[in-house]
Amino acid sequence: VMRSRVLGCGTFLPANIVTNQDLEQRVDTSDEWIVQRTGIRSRHIAAEGEKTSDLAIAAATRALEHAGVPAGSIDCIVLATTTPDNTFPATATKVQAALGTKGFAMDIQAVCAGFVYAMAVADNFLRNGQARRALVIGAETFSRLLDWNDRTTCVLFGDGAGAIVLEAYEAKGDSTDRGVLSTHLHSDGSQYDLLYVDGGASSTGTIGHVRMHGQEIFRHAVSKLSAVVEEALVANGLESTDIDWMVPHQANRRIIDGLARKMKLSPEKVVLTVDRHGNTSAASIPLALGEAVADGRVKRGDLILMEAIGGGLTWGSALVRW
Ligand code: ACO
Repeated sequence: VMRSRVLGCGTFLPANIVTNQDLEQRVDTSDEWIVQRTGIRSRHIAAEGEKTSDLAIAAATRALEHAGVPAGSIDCIVLATTTPDNTFPATATKVQAALGTKGFAMDIQAVCAGFVYAMAVADNFLRNGQARRALVIGAETFSRLLDWNDRTTCVLFGDGAGAIVLEAYEAKGDSTDRGVLSTHLHSDGSQYDLLYVDGGASSTGTIGHVRMHGQEIFRHAVSKLSAVVEEALVANGLESTDIDWMVPHQANRRIIDGLARKMKLSPEKVVLTVDRHGNTSAASIPLALGEAVADGRVKRGDLILMEAIGGGLTWGSALVRW
């Protein structure tokens, strides 16, 4: 059977770091409140003029280097973002032009679940032969959507990008294969008002700001994530004890800890970046993955669980053998 395996990964974070202490100067908040409720201590914020495509191009360039393959061998880019440079064209086409990749390029919009969605889309193209080698990117300048006077949201998010290179190959078709074992996607549009941006081309004609019912999101997060993780394990005949690394969407330390506890996964197996990155939406999983690969935690053959939930609601999981 055809499957897709990971050839390499890369990340990029804007140079500018904003600490909780910096935010204390802007809104009525405290380092103690933010750390206690979220685990976040600092986040990277893109400089004026630093666009989502800039972050995406930098991360993708590093992923190609790490994979050791030329840009011209890529025939598919799937880029997850909620913060495109422009309403159109897709930010992925800017990456295509900058890198000189072939084939086609498209954006995916699933907010914080975007990277899992993008992986699922690319993996399906590769499995059915519509592409051979894909760049899957999560890239956000989420800071552009924040109301910097709203302390309930502006302390939570950050900017960044991560990318992986996927390649189609003929696999055995069991859970010992390298690459994407399976992806599992869900959405529930009736939960629209829990987390959304109050603007857009066809509604207000403005960009708008993030609006969120934090406690309600929290309530949905652990139960929906544990269900979609279970779905992935069952689909592959695996158990949570088989997981070497959980690379979760990094929204909130408490959600991640809650899920790991429910899965009976030891904390050492969880890759955490939320303390230094905040919630970077579609970029958070590839940023965390890139860090754990670069520092040698993730090794060839390791089983990696990715999971995410975000606005929509949208949520999903992916099991990948490195
Ligand atoms: N600094 C200080 N006080 C604050 C801040 C802040 N930045 N923000 C809110 N407060 C206050 C509130 O006004 C409230 O005050 P009150 O009791 O006087 O009314 C108090 O803190 C408690 O507010 P809650 O909203 O009840 O706080 P909670 O414990 O629920 O924590 C949080 C809020 C961190 C947002 C939490 O609900 C959460 O993490 N939810 C998940 C949402 C999330 O992660 N969203 C990310 C996007 S979705 C995703 O990626 C999964």
